[in-house]
Amino acid sequence: MARSLFILSFSSLSLVSSGPTMDADLELENYMSSLMESDKSWESLSASYSGSKDIERKHVSEGNNGVTVSMVSLDSILPDDILDKIFSFLPIASIIRAASVCKVWYHIIHSMRFIWANKLPQKPWYFMFTSNEAAAGYAYDPVLRKWYNIDLPCIEKSNWFVSSSNGLVCFMDNDSRSRIFVCNPIIRDWKRILEPPGVVFPDYSSLAISVDRSSHRYTIVVIKSKQVPDDFSQWDFSIHRYNSERKSWESSINMVLPGWRGGDESVICNGVLYCLIHSTGVAGNADLRHRLMMYDISVTTPHVSSMLVTKPVPCSLTCGRLINLKERLVMVGGIAKYDKPDIIKGIGIWGLDAGEWVEVARVPHRFFQGFGELDDVFASSGTEDLIFIQSYGATGLLVFDMSQKQWKWSAKCPVTKRFPLQLFTGFCFEPRLEIVS
Ligand SMILES: *[C@@H]1O[C@H](CO)[C@@H](O)[C@H](O)[C@H]1NC(C)=O
Repeated sequence: MARSLFILSFSSLSLVSSGPTMDADLELENYMSSLMESDKSWESLSASYSGSKDIERKHVSEGNNGVTVSMVSLDSILPDDILDKIFSFLPIASIIRAASVCKVWYHIIHSMRFIWANKLPQKPWYFMFTSNEAAAGYAYDPVLRKWYNIDLPCIEKSNWFVSSSNGLVCFMDNDSRSRIFVCNPIIRDWKRILEPPGVVFPDYSSLAISVDRSSHRYTIVVIKSKQVPDDFSQWDFSIHRYNSERKSWESSINMVLPGWRGGDESVICNGVLYCLIHSTGVAGNADLRHRLMMYDISVTTPHVSSMLVTKPVPCSLTCGRLINLKERLVMVGGIAKYDKPDIIKGIGIWGLDAGEWVEVARVPHRFFQGFGELDDVFASSGTEDLIFIQSYGATGLLVFDMSQKQWKWSAKCPVTKRFPLQLFTGFCFEPRLEIVS
């Protein structure tokens, strides 16, 4: 019974890839193993339908070893909205693959935006760059514990700035810092954004995107910091934001920060922009090296610089990373040794609740040691309930589930380190099919 149901469901594939004399059982098995878990450590994932022939909706009868299998294309008996529902229960990687089966399935999957929008958010994926130069790598699905070979659009190098929100990923180049793209990496949809205003070739920049889950409108923020000529302690600091509805930039803040400069970490949570700023003062005063700056970008009236509020970070940090988890600001940071502020003795996670830092967790010692060559620099990002932490020096990926307070290593990344200076980094994004740039 179960078997005939499968033959029914996946007959469209058989029609696509072989002639009428093929071995239907074998074909089915191949297809099932490509849809379900396989033993390979990674799989390639392509979001587009590449077949050239139109698939006819017809009934086919085939014989094999004396057994007659009657193949009926599912889409010829089930209405499209039932197929919609069936697809919506599949994990996202299987849906993407199902879309490449035939034109009919492709159109059903790409026209069911209403159902996708109502689906619970998928668990975020983590894209790991495995090359120092090219922006190549693999994406990790923490639910199926699988790595996928996906080809990111737009981004050219792994050192570009990346920010993601609700399925969209924003990239900015690291040379001119003016080429900005917004894309959905799953469906390879992308758009180039106008160049941001403000100083050219800033010394430090930061990028943040925030996408509204229901309207799909988005805001991009670029923060620029440039040293005032001949003055080591004064820095120009400016905030520019892009509105996807108006398709234009506006500059909200343009000021000189005495004693502080911007960095490369920022995030938007609940309409508030958070960024880390760095002391330009004498080294050694470790407690004062970083502060968190907050700025409400949800208000449309022009702001004055006095609306900027700063707050100390919870302890002496290296590598502070700002993350939006369900619109709550969460910071992951390397806890610096008291006397050697560039060496870390652990990694902590804090949440900002009602303006106060609350320690959420610390990476347990055995996991911290598991990074191997943790050279005090690591990448960390997250959304929904998950935080990913990855050392620049290795491919080990640690996943923390905030709701269950659980630490887990990812399945092993398909790439191994080939030379000592090979660096790894990455970012997290939600795999969503319905959102376009
Ligand atoms: C941009 O390039 C600079 C210089 O190579 C590097 O220090 C910085 O980490 C890069 N930024 C990002 C986001 O990778």
